[in-house]
Amino acid sequence: MVQYDGRDSAVREAGIPVKVFDDYETLSREVAGMVDRVVRENPGVAITLPTGETPRGMYNELVQRINAGDLDFSTVHFFCLDDYLGASIDDPTSLTAWLNEVFLTPANLHGDHVHFVPTTSPDPDAAAIAYEAEIQALGGFRLAVLGLGPNGHIGFNEPGSSPDARTRVVHLTDESRTQNAQYYEGTPTIPDQAMTIGLGTLLEAGEIVLLVSGASKAEILKASLEGPMTPDVPGSFLRLAGDRVTVMADREAASALS
Ligand code: F6R
Repeated sequence: MVQYDGRDSAVREAGIPVKVFDDYETLSREVAGMVDRVVRENPGVAITLPTGETPRGMYNELVQRINAGDLDFSTVHFFCLDDYLGASIDDPTSLTAWLNEVFLTPANLHGDHVHFVPTTSPDPDAAAIAYEAEIQALGGFRLAVLGLGPNGHIGFNEPGSSPDARTRVVHLTDESRTQNAQYYEGTPTIPDQAMTIGLGTLLEAGEIVLLVSGASKAEILKASLEGPMTPDVPGSFLRLAGDRVTVMADREAASALS
């Protein structure tokens, strides 16, 4: 269990490694290579990867490797990270549908090693606890690749989240709903509730990669790595994972770091 007692200075001074790449293409290839290594070396373990604009390049690279026969992704348990409450894979504006289109279908990944966030359960709170138990039954995550929201969210662990939060139903901020509406044509209305793997669950992963791209993330990345450790910026809690976390960013996203 990751401990947070409200004092951040010791962890902040230790810092976390930041790998900066010249451009988005190189960043995507390097993160895919990292995922490839973990999958190859750890058959049977659980991993989670994010949705969103940032990981598109990583998924394209993984799909190429899988289809070329260079990588067997069926050896790991892949857990979807988050989705809107009530949204299923058949709902075109769900994150699972996005993942299905960008990764699962092109890579022909189907079957019981792909775990979907149980957002359509009639009892979502109990289903979230069961999803958490599925992760724990596999020993927790060997790898968690995560994106950083413009408001510092990790998964859908929004500002105000505790660093030991478990998989649960959450309320989305208007900022996150606006951000996510942009993923789809016609900017649909995004539900105001979601289910997310908990920050505490993610912080316990054997390896954590924070994947960040673009100038629009520069200030929130700086706040996450160099500002106070606070629930206002959930990304700042990544520092609690110490040397298990690596930031992989392109030059633009890293441009505000000192
Ligand atoms: C998505 C997720 C979010 C995103 C974050 C960054 O599954 O959990 O935390 O990683 O909002 O999204 P992009 O990459 O679109 O900027």
